[in-house]
Amino acid sequence: MDKIVVAGGPALQGEVRISGAKNAVLPILCATLLADGPVEIGNVPHLHDVLTTIKLLEGLGAGVVHDVDGARVTVDPCSVDSHVAPYELVRTMRASVLVLGPLLAKFGAAEVSLPGGCAIGARPVDLHIKALEALGAEITVEHGFIRARADRLRGGHVVFETISVGATENVLMAATLAEGTTLIDNAAREPEIVDLAECLIAMGADIRGAGTSRIEVRGVAALHAARHAVVADRIETGTFLVAAAITGGRVTATAARPETLGAVLDKLRQAGADVTIEGDAITLDMHGRRPRAVDIVTSPHPGFPTDMQAQMMALNCVAEGMGTIDETIFENRFMHVNELMRLGADIHIDGPRATVKGVARLSGAPVMATDLRASASLILAGLVAEGETTIDRIYHLDRGYEHIERKLSALGARIRRER
Ligand code: EPZ
Repeated sequence: MDKIVVAGGPALQGEVRISGAKNAVLPILCATLLADGPVEIGNVPHLHDVLTTIKLLEGLGAGVVHDVDGARVTVDPCSVDSHVAPYELVRTMRASVLVLGPLLAKFGAAEVSLPGGCAIGARPVDLHIKALEALGAEITVEHGFIRARADRLRGGHVVFETISVGATENVLMAATLAEGTTLIDNAAREPEIVDLAECLIAMGADIRGAGTSRIEVRGVAALHAARHAVVADRIETGTFLVAAAITGGRVTATAARPETLGAVLDKLRQAGADVTIEGDAITLDMHGRRPRAVDIVTSPHPGFPTDMQAQMMALNCVAEGMGTIDETIFENRFMHVNELMRLGADIHIDGPRATVKGVARLSGAPVMATDLRASASLILAGLVAEGETTIDRIYHLDRGYEHIERKLSALGARIRRER
């Protein structure tokens, strides 16, 4: 079981190139099933979840060429001969449920193992199912499987009672080949949904309003081969900017998309960082200062992203003053708190609110990663804790960050991976 060892130390300095977004490339890989020819995807990050999704597509019979060095994946769905997403894959990656909409729309049938919950919550899929039923799908859930069928999906009006990124993506993909027009109200507005829509439009889909809470999709008879480059990862960007802020350093994130993380940049400025933007580069300069505590309330985009909550908590742990963090999206996304407290953090939890009182110094200790973003927050805290911090179970980290220790070392961090 790999571990990461971080030694507290210098302020980070330098440039880091941002990779393609995990939460965009996963739905986009699933969307390739809708095409009548090969779809070539560029700027693909080298992540464990990408490898899992490729395995899933190959298991369905698709032809996949993965050029790792070229950060490119080409999927040819013409050889798909199965509509079953098996338990052994789905249980390792919930995003596998995103093949449901494409399989249903293209082949009229889909069997997807019910994704289990994970460390951060129960993660139900009821909104996915209800939305697809609104397009005429017949869906049963039994023996741990979602079984869906539809002769031809027809356009419908979907109104989400809760905003859901995945459910919006599933029904958006399904609607592209449905007969007639689909209206999706209370749709999620994340940049990854805009990126998915841009890929689908390149494939010939007729979509308006992606990125707003009302998306209109006019069904077409078929989608064709296309090329698409994945949007930069706003959460990876935010994570590296917090690394600069927590160490008092100066880091420039290049190949980024500043317009996708406005709420995060605002909070970093509130914490006392100088943040400047030049094209696709964001520079955060902390001038050696200690951060000021900030209050965070997570909410759907364009609000403060829940995927940056753990990272900002690490910043608050060493900030001046007291900051509150309200997690409104997931019911159990404070798993990093106990581990941060092992490093000397002063955090009090009361239901969905964590109150963090900044301390002058953290002290290194062995800690355990519980989920993807919790792992990142432990690394960030380790960058400034006295002595060494050893983070166990970092397979969580490899799901969502491409070569994180290589990128942090290049910025001056004292970090190594131990087998
Ligand atoms: C996506 O998960 C992301 N994953 C998550 O990123 C992210 O935290 C989340 O959106 C919120 O932004 C991918 O894109 C692969 P939701 P998703 O459906 O789609 C409830 C990371 O760290 N809900 O928007 O699963 C759900 O339980 C990961 O990169 C239902 O009740 O999130 C949650 O409380 C973690 N029923 C809320 O909605 C449903 O059918 C928002 O979930 C679906 C969701």
